[in-house]
Amino acid sequence: MSAVSSSSQSVPAWPAVPDDVNDLVAAVWPESAERDRHGVLSISGVSATELRDRFGTPLYVLDEEAVRTAARRTLDAFRAAAALHGVQARVYYAGKAFLSTEVVRWVTEEGLAVDVCTGGELAVALAGGADPARIGFHGNNKSQAELERAVEVGVGSIIVDSFIEIERLAAIVERTGATQSVLVRVNSGVHAETHDFLATAHEDQKFGFTLTDAPGAVARIREVPGLQFVGLHCHIGSQIFGSAGFQESAARVVELHAELLAGGEIPVLNLGGGFGIAYTVADDPTPIEHLATGIAEAVARECEVRGIPVPNLAFEPGRAIIGRAGVTLYEVGTTKPVDIGHDVTRLYVSVDGGMSDNPRPALYGAQYSARVASRTSDAAPQLSRVVGKHCESGDIVVDAEFLPADIAPGDLLAVPTTGAYCFSLASNYNYVPRPPVVAVRAGRARVIVRGETIDDLLARDVAADAGDEPVGEGESMPVLSERSETK
Ligand SMILES: Cc1ncc(COP(=O)(O)O)c(C=O)c1O
Repeated sequence: MSAVSSSSQSVPAWPAVPDDVNDLVAAVWPESAERDRHGVLSISGVSATELRDRFGTPLYVLDEEAVRTAARRTLDAFRAAAALHGVQARVYYAGKAFLSTEVVRWVTEEGLAVDVCTGGELAVALAGGADPARIGFHGNNKSQAELERAVEVGVGSIIVDSFIEIERLAAIVERTGATQSVLVRVNSGVHAETHDFLATAHEDQKFGFTLTDAPGAVARIREVPGLQFVGLHCHIGSQIFGSAGFQESAARVVELHAELLAGGEIPVLNLGGGFGIAYTVADDPTPIEHLATGIAEAVARECEVRGIPVPNLAFEPGRAIIGRAGVTLYEVGTTKPVDIGHDVTRLYVSVDGGMSDNPRPALYGAQYSARVASRTSDAAPQLSRVVGKHCESGDIVVDAEFLPADIAPGDLLAVPTTGAYCFSLASNYNYVPRPPVVAVRAGRARVIVRGETIDDLLARDVAADAGDEPVGEGESMPVLSERSETK
C-alpha cells in the first residue's frame, strides 16, 4: 500500500494531499468541531467516542447551536438586503432538508417560517409548534386530502404547481368557505449550474408553470373568491454557488410580476432556496450575505426599470441552514487495498452504514470528506474511498479522500456536512435500520429522533408471524414483540 501524490493520474482533481490527515478543515465542519487532548473529535463539547458508546454507530449528530447560528445569519442577511430597498424579507426553512419536531422548534425560535411539501412534513411542522400562518405548502402533486388539511389548519400560503391543483383548491375553498393565500410557482427557464437532478427551473421538468402559462394560472386564481393570489414563486435548483443564476432568474420573474400587477396588488416575490455550501475543500460557495445583497439588488433594479414597487421578498433555504451542522459517525469494519494502476493503491474503507443513511453520492455523485474521529495518526496520507455495507458497488459514502494509511477496523470515521438531505432521504435498503439523530449542545447530547430497530422493520411486514396461512380480511394480526428502548 502506498501513499500517493495528487499529481498521479488516477487521483481525482480533489482532494489535494493534506499536510495533516487529522486536520479539521474549517469550511466543512461545524465551528464547534475540535480534537481533544487525546486527539478524539468532539462536536459542541461531546466526544465522538462518548457518542459511540452511548448511542452506537452509524449516528447522525446535529450541532444545535450551528443550526441556530446559520438560521439567524441567513435571516439577518436577507432582512438586511431587503431593507436596503425598503421592503421586508421572510425566510422559510425548507423542511425537506431535515425535518423533525425539535429542528422545527429551533428554526422557528430563531425567527424562520417553515416550508413543507407533503402532508407528512406538514404534520411534523405542526407537531413541532410551527405557526400554521407561517407555513408554506409546496408540491407538484398535492393530494386532495393534503390540500384539505392545509386549508383546514390555515397554512399561510399554498404554492400551486398546476391547473388541476388550482381547480382542486377552488373546490375546497368554495365548499368550506375558507380563504386561502396562494403563490404560483413558475419556471424562469434559468438552468442553474448544478447537477441536473438538482436543477429545477429549466422548462423541461415537472415543477411549476412556464412563464407562458403562468398568467393563465394567476387569472384563474383571481376569479375564485376564496383564493387570494399573493405572489410568484421560483426555485431554480439546489447547491448553487454563484449569484448570477439567481439574479437572471429574478429578472425574468420580475418581468412577469410587473405584467400581473395590472390585475391587482402582488405583495410577495418568493425566490426559493438552493444556496450552496462547501462539502469539500474544493467548494467555494458565495457567502449568504453577498447572495442576499445581489439577489435583492437584482429585484430592485428590475422593478425600478419597470417603474413598479419592490415587493416583499421570501426565500427558502434548507441546506444552508442545516447542512454544515450535521456530522455522521461510522465505525470502520474492513479495509481493502486495491491496485488501480499507475502505481496507485486505493484503500477501500467499509463502514457500518452507507447509501441507506446517505444516498446523495449514489443519487447525485455528491462529494464528501472524512476524518478518523477516534484518534489522530502520524501515518502517511492514503488515497481512500469510504464505502457502505450495501449490495451496490455505487454504495459510496466518500468517493475520494486522503485518510491515514493505518486506518483500521474499530476506528471511528466522521463524515462532515451531512445535515441536509441525508436523514431525510434515508432508506431501509437491505433492511438496515435508520440511525438515530442525536443533538449536541454545550457538552450535552440527547436523542431527538430514535434509531430504528429490526423489530420496527419487521412490524410493517404484516405476514411476518403468520406462517404459511394467508391472513384474511378483518382477521387480526399477531402482536409483535415490544420495540427496543430508545438508544
Ligand atoms: C421549492 C424548494 N424550495 C426550497 C428548496 C431548498 O433547497 P436548498 O436546501 O438547496 O436550499 C427546495 C429544494 O429542493 C425546493 O424544491
